[in-house]
Amino acid sequence: MLSASRRTILASTAAMAAALARSPIVAQALAAPAAGAPPQPDSPRRRLSLEADWRFHAGDIPFAPLLDHEAAYAHAKAGNATGGAAEDCDDGDWAMVTLPHDFALGQAPDPAANPDQAYRPRGIAWYRRGVLLDPAWREGALDLVFDGIATNATVWINGTLAARHFGGYTPLVIDLLPFARFGEEPNTIAVRVDAQDSEGWWYEGAGLYRHVWIERRAPVHIVRHGLVARPHPLGQGDNAATSGDWAVPLTLDLANSGAADAAITVAARLTAPDGTAVAAAQAALTLPAQGQAQAALTLAVPRPRLWSPADPALYRLEARVLANGVLADQESGALGLRTVRFDADRGMLLNGEPCPIKGVCAHQDHAGVGVAVPDSLWDYRLRRIREMGGNALRTAHHAPAPELLEAADRLGVMILAENRTLSAAPDTLDALAALVRLGRNHASVIAWSLCNEESIQASGIGVAMVTRMKALVRTLDPTRAVTAALNGAMEAEPNIADMLDVVGFNYGRGSIDAYHAAHPTRPLLSSEDTSALMTRGAATGDAARHVIADDDMTAVPWGQTNSAAWAFIAQRPWLAGGFLWTGFDYRGEATPFGWPSTSSFFGAMDLCGFAKSGFHIRHALWSATPVIAIWPHWTFPGSEGRAVPILVASNADLVSLHLGGQEIARAPVRDGVARFTPVYAPGRLLAQGWRDGRVVASATCVTAGAPVALRLVPDRLRIRAERRDAVPVTVMAVDDAGQSVPVAQHGFALHVEGGQILGLGNGDPNLALPETPAADGRSGAMALFNGLAQAIVCADGSGPLHLVATAAGLAPARCVLRVDPATVAALPAVPPAQPLTEWRQAPASAQRPVPGQRLGDGDMNSWAWTKPGATQPTDPAAPWVLLHLAFTPRRAVAAKGGTVRFASVVGRAEIWLDGVRVALKADPAPAPLAIPLPPGSGERLLDVLFDNRVTPGRCGLAGMVSLGA
Ligand code: GAL
Repeated sequence: MLSASRRTILASTAAMAAALARSPIVAQALAAPAAGAPPQPDSPRRRLSLEADWRFHAGDIPFAPLLDHEAAYAHAKAGNATGGAAEDCDDGDWAMVTLPHDFALGQAPDPAANPDQAYRPRGIAWYRRGVLLDPAWREGALDLVFDGIATNATVWINGTLAARHFGGYTPLVIDLLPFARFGEEPNTIAVRVDAQDSEGWWYEGAGLYRHVWIERRAPVHIVRHGLVARPHPLGQGDNAATSGDWAVPLTLDLANSGAADAAITVAARLTAPDGTAVAAAQAALTLPAQGQAQAALTLAVPRPRLWSPADPALYRLEARVLANGVLADQESGALGLRTVRFDADRGMLLNGEPCPIKGVCAHQDHAGVGVAVPDSLWDYRLRRIREMGGNALRTAHHAPAPELLEAADRLGVMILAENRTLSAAPDTLDALAALVRLGRNHASVIAWSLCNEESIQASGIGVAMVTRMKALVRTLDPTRAVTAALNGAMEAEPNIADMLDVVGFNYGRGSIDAYHAAHPTRPLLSSEDTSALMTRGAATGDAARHVIADDDMTAVPWGQTNSAAWAFIAQRPWLAGGFLWTGFDYRGEATPFGWPSTSSFFGAMDLCGFAKSGFHIRHALWSATPVIAIWPHWTFPGSEGRAVPILVASNADLVSLHLGGQEIARAPVRDGVARFTPVYAPGRLLAQGWRDGRVVASATCVTAGAPVALRLVPDRLRIRAERRDAVPVTVMAVDDAGQSVPVAQHGFALHVEGGQILGLGNGDPNLALPETPAADGRSGAMALFNGLAQAIVCADGSGPLHLVATAAGLAPARCVLRVDPATVAALPAVPPAQPLTEWRQAPASAQRPVPGQRLGDGDMNSWAWTKPGATQPTDPAAPWVLLHLAFTPRRAVAAKGGTVRFASVVGRAEIWLDGVRVALKADPAPAPLAIPLPPGSGERLLDVLFDNRVTPGRCGLAGMVSLGA
């Protein structure tokens, strides 16, 4: 919240900014330091990934039972969490995992569990990790950021409750500073994830399934999501986008957590997609100590190159904050310039031109990895949407990962960003605000969807909630339309439809025309349609085996086939386009089947992103250039002489089919498809697409022979040594001519060197094989499904990544990926050590006390409670100070022995272990100390007896005490 000291500094009017940007001197000065100028130090901002080396425990760890007064008293105090949250929790034998991590995926499906969660029981789990923090980070802002946890979470830092969080799609940001230790003293992060509750009717995964970061900013800094850019054309009207100059107004929310006021300069510059500096501006202000302020600047951009799916041109925006002349903070990012307007007559206008939305809805799980989707897979999935001819994605029904939006900006996919829950509860409003803050600088985001199919849509309560939600969105982003995906009850009053800038219809073919006629000034959108059902590569269906023919002939009663759904939209230019349900299959919602089917049949692509007929039909319907594809294949051994169904997806007018050089059939194309039932004979099938008497496109499909070998086809040949840059690799079987065999169903094994297999899948909605690899990630097994499977691999940096696939009766396949270094800075985990924190201190005494005593039960007060990290003044009248600790070593140390390490003991001291003096620190100067601990199970006693008779001053345990190997 901005305080009373907040000042808004308007650096320039648009006209001034325009003049500044056109001034070569200013632009040049900000674009590059003049020759001979001292190099600017790096910004003190740090963003460090916390992905590797988490300790993971499946299942709950009960908190210690509170069976006596001492335990109950201690339990209620900061730093004293018990169970999995305890600082000294024995996590030595927990599994090591790398994030993002989805712990539901590895669970065996259970017919008694929720089918919509893919029959995974989900449940509760714990994650723990140690980190060391740079002492230079004591000042400023230090955040621990979880980008997403499924579903509810509690976080403890160093044994103190730091956050409770509800909701799997909202980031959790914890101010780490008040919990943190610095330097050599490790911090323990413990997270209890409770995924027993669910928020959706689709597979949501479980655990720390998005990235985790430590973000550090200097005392003077731009607050998180505090840099906001709202590019707009200077002129009015739809043509202004393309015909004139633009302004990029920026606001920067700044904070100063330091003790002194700071003289601030804020400088921003914009670099064009071709690398030339195009605009710059700066402002000066005073940022009061412990205060906040907002700076505003405007960059002027003459006739910019606009962002669109056809040309996703991105400028680079950089903002720098100098405090008293020194670089204090810096933030940069991609910025696309475009206008979006929804029009009741013309649909959606992008940069002033009608741009029908050719969109898909999608959840966020993928084969092999569940919801723990590596960043590069977002690129892969968005590329697949583009290859299908699509230009948009609705993130149904929840907020996307940040990396998805970055990829959408780069790849030119428009995003309808959806909020999860309709409510005005503080938590849900926070979730909505987080969504808008995340997406508002992204050119790809075209609108905000508040909710999906709510039964209180036509009610005063619904209207009241949407009123608050829309107002919140407007405050954070006045530039984008607000919509919602509604289903039914469109004419009932009151209705949240009346509150929306764009009314979204789910499956609205029966009502949308009447609504349009009754509300001719309202922009309308098909927020969801289609829901066609098909199994990838299945030539025919078999309900008993839960197989649906891959022919785009089957849809749910409320939906339509891909052909029919798009035909409906294409006939209505006033409709802004539509989002088909769904781009990809997803786990859960295996309509119309149940157990043992675990994933949906709705996708135009399967769970791996492999095409189904829906993909090819959409491609034909969505493309301006000629498209033709034969589907599913021409390999039907045993069906010789019998008619087999195939389709040809095309946007030609007519398709002729030829076998062995002879035309065998021709059929008109209707809504993207021509259908045939030719008599099968092995050979070369040719489809020609005709328009105006000319062949405009052709495709061939050759009968495959018996499979003789496997083949691996990586999505690309270079990979970075980080999990986020995983590569999907297609596995297939080929015949002796090297042709893919679409009916192969072989089981196979995979082995990797130089990396890990993150997961495997094959797109079969009835898949019964585990998708997770062996525990070491080096090997895994899967089966081809209708000719294809997919492995997701990542590199570890130890050398090139070698992948080998083997199958009985087939020649093995290999592929090698060249490995580049990781690009994301990471904070390593510290080796596990047991912190010894819960000390008692006897009253200082004139008499030498006896170490190794046990305290009386229930005595909370005669001995003080203390934690290491502080020293105290000594008292010449009572020079003996005794610190006492009862502790239970972790299993590994109890078995083999270990070392008690004192980071810093101040004063002359004796160390006693189990009632025996084991060390004397004669020199009172602060010093570390290491004491061997012999093996032994059960409770142990440690005493530090300070003798302050000779050298009074201060005494105590100035640093951490820990027990390790
Ligand atoms: C819609 C719903 C989607 C999905 C779909 C299946 O009503 O919004 O989440 O369930 O039906 O057809």
